[in-house]
Amino acid sequence: MAKTTQKINTTFSIDNQSTLYNGDCLELLKSMPDGVVDLVVTSPPYCMGKSYEDPKDDLQTFFEKHTELLPEIYRVLKDGGSMCWQVGYHVKNNVVTPLDFMVHEVIKHHDNKEIAENLILRNRMVWTFGHGYNASNRFSGRHEVIMWYTKGKEYSFDLDSVRVPQKYPGKKYYKGDKKGQFSGNPLGKNPSDVWEIPNVKAHHVEKTEHPCQFPIAIPQRLIKALTPENGLVLDPFFGSGATAVAAALEGRRFVGADTEKSYCDIAKTRTEEAFAGTIRYREDKPVYEPDQKQAVARRPAHFVNSSDAEAKKKKAD
Ligand SMILES: C[S@@+](CC[C@H](N)C(=O)[O-])C[C@H]1O[C@@H](n2cnc3c(N)ncnc32)[C@H](O)[C@@H]1O
Repeated sequence: MAKTTQKINTTFSIDNQSTLYNGDCLELLKSMPDGVVDLVVTSPPYCMGKSYEDPKDDLQTFFEKHTELLPEIYRVLKDGGSMCWQVGYHVKNNVVTPLDFMVHEVIKHHDNKEIAENLILRNRMVWTFGHGYNASNRFSGRHEVIMWYTKGKEYSFDLDSVRVPQKYPGKKYYKGDKKGQFSGNPLGKNPSDVWEIPNVKAHHVEKTEHPCQFPIAIPQRLIKALTPENGLVLDPFFGSGATAVAAALEGRRFVGADTEKSYCDIAKTRTEEAFAGTIRYREDKPVYEPDQKQAVARRPAHFVNSSDAEAKKKKAD
């Protein structure tokens, strides 16, 4: 972790360590030269009536704004750079639309044929988390997705920097030349395309006033795997600054925008804390498994789950 006093700028220059622009991301992008960004990581507004959105915004707005934004994102991205778009679902009147479908549609049917052909999907990560709104008329939503595209066919991917602990690290080959030897990679296993990372709810150590933060571990993992040392990371909708913090923690440069002054202030404070080594955040580690010895983890005697109910019903029949 860098423990230095770093200046945070408000307008872009290629040598800035961190640029937090308070304004429209399209304005920021227009001030940037071609081909300078190694990685774009963002979560855009879902057009669902959040406090920072125009209440009139809907799915059509989402589609139109992405269609307009994409050429500028594509222009500032380096050949071989990556674009990671974190989205969930647009829900209105109990009608659910997966926004990743829409993002993919915008890309693959863009009027700019180079964008359609040259932004190549590499993974669609499922980000799963344990807590959220408990639905009663459909299954409770416990995942969102991250779409990872590369600009062109060539790209770099540092898997070793993001390996995670194996569930059974003591597993051994049971036959062949290596029989009896440990079979796992000592650096850990590939984290796969399903990421279990707690979302930022009320008691999360990273919670700020921002209503829709993603955890720092998400951009941090992507930055480690997809950017070189001192590479440039862009988040056009930085909100509470999770991507800016992750970039600072990993020794990468950052540039991003947010229209809300109060969020820019939060992002600035957090980025300063990251540079100073005082930021509080949840490290990217496996999710805690509850200890069955704790009373709170045990099922009260009168709780009945559906399989018990089914068994009781069968017995009665
Ligand atoms: C889903 S939030 C991003 C949250 C962020 N990932 C975090 O962890 O805090 C979207 C953000 O986009 C900002 N925003 C909306 N329209 C914008 C625009 N045209 N340019 C820049 N920021 C914008 C909103 O103020 C909001 O903070």
